[in-house]
Amino acid sequence: MPQTANADPAEFIRANTDLIMPPLVCEINLLLANEAQPIWLATEADLDEYGLPPPYWAFAWAGGQALARYILDHPHEVQGKRVFDFASGSGLVAIAAAMAGAIAVTANDIDPFAITAIALNANSNGVNVTTEIRDMIGQPLDEYDVLLAGDVCYEQSMADRTIAWLRDRAAANKSVLLGDPGRSYLPKTGMDWVIRYGILESGPLEDTDARNAIVWRV
Ligand SMILES: C[S@@+](CC[C@H](N)C(=O)[O-])C[C@H]1O[C@@H](n2cnc3c(N)ncnc32)[C@H](O)[C@@H]1O
Repeated sequence: MPQTANADPAEFIRANTDLIMPPLVCEINLLLANEAQPIWLATEADLDEYGLPPPYWAFAWAGGQALARYILDHPHEVQGKRVFDFASGSGLVAIAAAMAGAIAVTANDIDPFAITAIALNANSNGVNVTTEIRDMIGQPLDEYDVLLAGDVCYEQSMADRTIAWLRDRAAANKSVLLGDPGRSYLPKTGMDWVIRYGILESGPLEDTDARNAIVWRV
């Protein structure tokens, strides 16, 4: 690892990433890892040694790419609305919402490196995105109209907590959209299929064929 968690997060992110366009969302540049960077192949044990959580923020996940593509192509979903992007990672979906005309966008993640990456990425794409680092699962989010979630069903406990909460918020008349590449923990019922995308490539942290991703309405 060229730099450790003790380094300034922005410095660490810049040293371990390149400015890259996700294949499905070429309007947006993000600081992402590629094969040449050590964090691309680092195992969780390697990262743990340096006090780093898995660098989810360094990849544009297939579910997030699909959701960002859908929003850019269907701006009415967010235009003039207040948007909350749950588990934002690199900030890809939040940035897409801001570009598509949302009046306010909050990107939420519990990883401080993600929060720094989101700020850097929003800045380099020329959009305003507010960040929120707390675990917001279970919160009413009364101040938002639209809730977005890209690739959040990669672990059973995360999927169970998140989907129950998103369903509850949809029942409270929020518009809730979720992008997913076919994760086994995604419930098979209670979602309406919106659109499917094929994606040419994805990161090394995938547990599934990430070349297809679906946007669902919860
Ligand atoms: C697979 S990544 C998806 C990132 C992004 N949405 C995308 O599609 O590219 C999952 C993200 O969820 C974040 N996360 C995990 N638990 C969370 C929680 N309780 N609240 C907010 N974010 C969380 C992780 O830190 C990580 O950035």
